[in-house]
Amino acid sequence: MKTKTNLAILASGNGSNFEAIIKAVKKGYLSIGKCILITDKKDAYVRERAKKYKIKEIFVDPASFKNKKEYEKKLVEIHDKEKIDLIALAGYMKILSPFFVKYFKNKILNIHPSLLPSFSGKDAIENAYNYGCKITGVTVHFVSNAVDSGPIIMQKTVSIEEGMQLDELENKIHKTEHKLYPKAIRLFLKNKLKIEGRRVKII
Ligand code: GRF
Repeated sequence: MKTKTNLAILASGNGSNFEAIIKAVKKGYLSIGKCILITDKKDAYVRERAKKYKIKEIFVDPASFKNKKEYEKKLVEIHDKEKIDLIALAGYMKILSPFFVKYFKNKILNIHPSLLPSFSGKDAIENAYNYGCKITGVTVHFVSNAVDSGPIIMQKTVSIEEGMQLDELENKIHKTEHKLYPKAIRLFLKNKLKIEGRRVKII
C-alpha cells in the first residue's frame, strides 16, 4: 500500500521556492515519497537547481502542443504516470485551466507574494511597495479556477519599513516564502487541512 505523498513542483523561473521545498525534504521536515520538477521554460534556472539536488525534472514545451488543452493533457499524463498526489506551484507562470484544476481538485497549492486578496496577479511585491503599503506578506492557498483566489491555507505578514528599497522588500518576502511554503506543505502531508467553503481549517 502506498503511504507517502508524491509531490510535483511546477515552476517556470528562478526556483528559490523549489529549492526551499527540496531542502525541507532533505532535512526530513517534509516526509514525501518522491518529488519531481515540471517546467514549461527551457532555460529556467530552476532546472539547474533540480540537477544540483538530483531531482527528476521534466521540461514540457507548451509550444509543441496545438493548444493549451493538449499541453495540459500531457501534464496530466505525466502526473498520472508518476503517481503524483500533490502539486505545488512555485513561480509557475501559466494559468491552469478548469480542466486541470478539476482533475487535481484540492491537490494544487500555490504561493503568492502578497496578502491575498490584495495584489493578486503579476508584480505583487512591487505593486504593494508602490502603493505605499506599510504591511504586505505572503499567502499559500489552494488553487481554484480564478487566479490567486482559492481558499487560503496560511499567510504571513511582512512589514515595509520607512526608507526600505524594493529589492530589500523582495528579499524579505522571499525569505518569508521559503519558510511558509514548507510549513503549509507539511500541514497538507499530515492531513491537517480541511476545506470548508472559502475557509481552510487547520485541524
Ligand atoms: C515567488 O515570489 C512566488 O510567490 C511567485 O513567484 C515567485 C517565484 O520565485 N508565485 P522562485 O522562482 O521560487 O524564486
